[in-house]
Amino acid sequence: MTDSEALKTNVREKYAEIARQSRETNAKSCCGVGAPGTYTIMSESYANLQGYNPDADLSLGCGLPTEFACIEAGDTVVDLGAGAGNDCFVARAATGPEGKVIGIDFTPEMVRRARQNAEKLGFNNVEFRQGDIEDMPVSDASADVVVSNCVLNLVPDKRRVFAEIMRVLRPGGHFSISDIVLVGELPGSLRESAELYAGCVSGAIQRAGYLDLIREAGFQDIQVQKEKPILIPDHILLEYLTENQLRDFLQSGMGIFSVTVFAEKPGGVEKRQKKEKHKVNLAELKAAIACCEPGSGCC
Ligand SMILES: C[S@@+](CC[C@H](N)C(=O)[O-])C[C@H]1O[C@@H](n2cnc3c(N)ncnc32)[C@H](O)[C@@H]1O
Repeated sequence: MTDSEALKTNVREKYAEIARQSRETNAKSCCGVGAPGTYTIMSESYANLQGYNPDADLSLGCGLPTEFACIEAGDTVVDLGAGAGNDCFVARAATGPEGKVIGIDFTPEMVRRARQNAEKLGFNNVEFRQGDIEDMPVSDASADVVVSNCVLNLVPDKRRVFAEIMRVLRPGGHFSISDIVLVGELPGSLRESAELYAGCVSGAIQRAGYLDLIREAGFQDIQVQKEKPILIPDHILLEYLTENQLRDFLQSGMGIFSVTVFAEKPGGVEKRQKKEKHKVNLAELKAAIACCEPGSGCC
């Protein structure tokens, strides 16, 4: 088995376990994975979003990509790593019955749970496909919008995923993806933890490298729409670090961030004006990050 296959097997096993447990149990851990009674990366609530279905919300996301995705009625939306379908049902509220939503996940237990949710809601335009987002079961140039929530950090070949997004989007289509990125190096014992890999931390790459991959895949109009630090509590870090290592880590200035990134496939013009209004004011973004201090309760 290659390293990539081993990582994927670990991720699939962890998310199969999560698909079998309750939302309450997942909400107490990192990305649904880890010691019980700990913390969650997800700090934003879906509860007020149109289309929200609590049965589909396993508390596994790290942002609200659908809020930034400029989804219009009639759009075809693809959600990468759809889990139990949380973002798909919110996206479906925006596409309406004339649109289509396709959720992709490679964990059979998640796909099963998502399909059950769609069936209960009686939607015939929300479809869940089992597959690997490094090789998406979606035809070329068929999607208007791609969304994803806290998944690309789990994928060994992120370059390939961006190439696949480019393939499945129509010219002028765009994505809005929430994910975890790093600024600075994680200590070795955090980087090598299988649990923190499945927990959406140690598979994350550098923020600058992440944006470079998007640029190199050929996307344009790349914008960081939202960004905020993730603060892992000391008692979790102490499961992996000694007291001295923890002190060095806290003083190192290393940061773990949740980001929502937008980018567009070249070749279309018609939706540009609408997308303009979703550009963020960088000064406002910096102010928001600055007030997100430890203990402020925002992370
Ligand atoms: C952190 S969960 C997020 C689930 C969902 N987006 C949400 O916010 O509720 C990650 C999901 O991505 C799926 N996943 C991870 N790697 C994948 C891959 N290479 N291809 C398809 N799905 C993948 C997992 O099975 C899991 O359901």
